[in-house]
Amino acid sequence: MWDDLKKHHATIAARRFETLVDADRAADFSARAGDMLLDYAKTNIDADGRALLIELLEKTGVAQKRAAMFTGAAINETEGRAVLHTALRNLDGGPVMVDGADVMPGILDTLDRMAQFAQAVRDGSFAGQGGKITDVINIGIGGSDLGPAMAVKALAPFHDGPRCHFVSNVDPADIAAAMQVCDPATTLVIVASKTFTTIETMTNARTAQAWMGQSVTDTGAQFAALSTAADKTADFGIAPERVFGFEDWVGGRYSMWGPIGLSLMIAIGPDNFRAFLRGGQAMDQHFKAAKWEENLPAMLALVGIWHNQICGFATRAVLPYDNLLSRLPAYLQQLEMESNGKGVSMDGADLPVDSGPVVWGEPGTNGQHAFYQLIHQGTRVIPCEFLVAARGHNDDLHHQHQLLVANCLAQSEALMRGRDLDAARSKVADKFSGDELERQAKHRVFAGNRPSVTIAYPQLDPFMLGQIIALYEHRVFVEGVVLGLNSYDQWGVELGKELATALQPVVEGTQSAQGKDGSTAALVGFLQNNGV
Ligand code: F6P
Repeated sequence: MWDDLKKHHATIAARRFETLVDADRAADFSARAGDMLLDYAKTNIDADGRALLIELLEKTGVAQKRAAMFTGAAINETEGRAVLHTALRNLDGGPVMVDGADVMPGILDTLDRMAQFAQAVRDGSFAGQGGKITDVINIGIGGSDLGPAMAVKALAPFHDGPRCHFVSNVDPADIAAAMQVCDPATTLVIVASKTFTTIETMTNARTAQAWMGQSVTDTGAQFAALSTAADKTADFGIAPERVFGFEDWVGGRYSMWGPIGLSLMIAIGPDNFRAFLRGGQAMDQHFKAAKWEENLPAMLALVGIWHNQICGFATRAVLPYDNLLSRLPAYLQQLEMESNGKGVSMDGADLPVDSGPVVWGEPGTNGQHAFYQLIHQGTRVIPCEFLVAARGHNDDLHHQHQLLVANCLAQSEALMRGRDLDAARSKVADKFSGDELERQAKHRVFAGNRPSVTIAYPQLDPFMLGQIIALYEHRVFVEGVVLGLNSYDQWGVELGKELATALQPVVEGTQSAQGKDGSTAALVGFLQNNGV
């Protein structure tokens, strides 16, 4: 199958896909889920290529794996776990069985407890020693940070609860900044950690405890915990009524739909949080029911596979023309790169093709004035993923929003069309002539034929954000199944953690650097000489 796709690519690689893009193609090479549109007409995928990609998806068993995931089979085979973040948003769905037991009553009960607590924080019936909670500090890292941090920003127009701060880095600068602007007497600290062992999070949590202890008598009363490890949260001194648990079949980077979303729920309120869940659930239903050609997660995954594994484009830029989504690229970096950044197939063999791509990006129009130069004229092709809302949240500034939308559409058009030498010459013919005209014109040529997809939607609200995040989760799932890898473990982060633990006493000077490689020993020496 991979060979068929590569052969097909070789026959059409030189074609300018611009010539294909008429109104029929725009209709045929796009898909809808509810109010959301995915346009992938501006790619070099044609009907034959799409048929081959869908065949690949069918032969690799995506439909069977999808059913296995939603019904609680242990598809995370290296850890022997189910993958059931979808159950967290299965608000009015049926039972979901894991090891013979329905997990839905527990999930819905925790959701209700979260809602009661969030409401109490919001209305002041849960208060700090100094009165109503004004600030929430979420301490967590990776999946225990990026989701709620991204979503609190994305849903700023709906934020009517206390201020939220997200502390993730073990760099003391991070927590110091939060402590500087918060009053401990009116702050709620949420320690978010699936395992409750992550060194950065536990270090920051202890720092926050000490900070609060300077002015608050019962610090534990202003702490809450989100974790699968109830024993460890109790050891830390957090009372069970403020511990919101979840199960190990919720992966860290897929966990914002449950307790890890508590800071978001406090910020936007339980009703808006439920709307977010409903958006995710709507995308689940679409993913399960839509034909492949009309299935947004499937088509987004196949476009990604076409660009990465078939065309060999190693990175993918995510470019939200929606400033509220400014943290989406960082969130997707973890979701996609921690999930599909693997070189080994589920059966232990080497992957026959490249692993998932490097994902990066920044909101438009900012990126246009920073790195788009390389996207347009650099020697490597970078497929772009644009996200754009028809409407923003500032009605009185709608003309600015229209300018934003025009910029988004202009970029995908420019990437596709480019500018040839003749057009470049005529741009500067009034200024130069002869050899100098040729030289100047060449600098103004855009190769074009550069692919992009656009995800368009009416407006970013909790429901739409839920749809967007679930779309990306399922895209990662489809890509992972097609690549034959396990999207739900993350062994690649372990070695660095082990070495950091071993290096800590060396850095502190209580152990010698003997036995370390020359470079590491020299760096330790330099940093120690400079006061580490
Ligand atoms: O080190 C990677 C990782 O395990 C991520 O997968 C996870 O989201 C993050 O660390 C935080 O883990 P925890 O929620 O257990 O603190």
